[in-house]
Amino acid sequence: MASGTSGAEPKVETFGKTKAGETVEIYTIGNESGFAARIMTRGATLVNLYVPDRDGKLADVLLGFDNVSGYESEGNQYFGCTTGRVCNRIARGKFSLDGKDYTLAINNDANHLHGGVERSLDKVVWKAKAFSSDKGQSVRLTYTSPDGEEGYPGNLEITVAFFIPADRNTLNISYKATTDARTPVNLTNHAYFNLSGEGSETVLNHRLRLNADHYTPTDDTLIPTGEIAPVEGTDLDFRTLHRIGARIKSVGETAAIGYDHNFVLNERAEDAEMTLAAVLVDPASGRRMRVMTTEPGIQFYSGNFLMGQEGKGLKTYAHRSALCLETQHYPDSVNHPDFPSTILNPGDVYESKTSYNFGVVESQDNDK
Ligand code: BGC
Repeated sequence: MASGTSGAEPKVETFGKTKAGETVEIYTIGNESGFAARIMTRGATLVNLYVPDRDGKLADVLLGFDNVSGYESEGNQYFGCTTGRVCNRIARGKFSLDGKDYTLAINNDANHLHGGVERSLDKVVWKAKAFSSDKGQSVRLTYTSPDGEEGYPGNLEITVAFFIPADRNTLNISYKATTDARTPVNLTNHAYFNLSGEGSETVLNHRLRLNADHYTPTDDTLIPTGEIAPVEGTDLDFRTLHRIGARIKSVGETAAIGYDHNFVLNERAEDAEMTLAAVLVDPASGRRMRVMTTEPGIQFYSGNFLMGQEGKGLKTYAHRSALCLETQHYPDSVNHPDFPSTILNPGDVYESKTSYNFGVVESQDNDK
């Protein structure tokens, strides 16, 4: 269902009910070109993103499901959700803060992944409100995660706002959080992109550029060793546009079983609010996405665990048929004092911004 909003007010509809009986709403925001996003209140999740190709034809470039039960099923691998309280891994689900030890759920080998199991941010139902002005349309979602939820300290009040300006095909996501006790926070969005449209075969022919001279090497359970290593001379060197499939075979033979790495973004210019993190180009459709962020890192995950599950419109989501570009602080930062800190103090405001800007290219090598 392609749905531009033609300058109308953001639309709100009922998307369905969770197993627990909570009503889930879905909001549509967009601009007059037909560029539009749909965001549901379960998990503050980006469900659809309609983007024009080089001929102006819209396609939904995000993997996902047509209903709430799809999102509650085993087939959902964090599709489009707001991920946290701490995205990515915390080694063995343990950390210490101010002399106190915390133990979190183990849900990924020996480690804690993406905020936990039952009440991680992707699984709870958020409150939402839509806004509209001549500048654009937005939906703002809020959730208060109580002290101790999923083992994390502090009552954490979180706001995630999705905004589409009237005059650009850009989706901005801004995150804010406050706490009443010191606690780690690291929020991202886990959208799975296929710029040919969800349900298309693989993303191995997409071209990717990452603005990163370094990455964080890991052990065999994908926990950073603490080293910051150069990408130069490795299969992780995406400093110029590269075909994703070109070197994936050898990366596939490592513990990461494909690309599943945190890249250390090159420092932004002093007067710039955000860094250019990634450029993704699909030569087939001509769609080009630029990711800008205030975050110091980005996880490039090449959909290695996609397993042919059934998604929107009964389409099959094959192995590597989408990729994630998750802007973030580095994985397991809470156990690495040398990494940029993820600790939020009472009285401070956690703030993070990422923007996804879309355009088209005529030829596959043009990433301008
Ligand atoms: C992780 C992957 C994981 C995927 C889906 C990514 O952020 O780095 O290892 O399989 O999310 O859960």
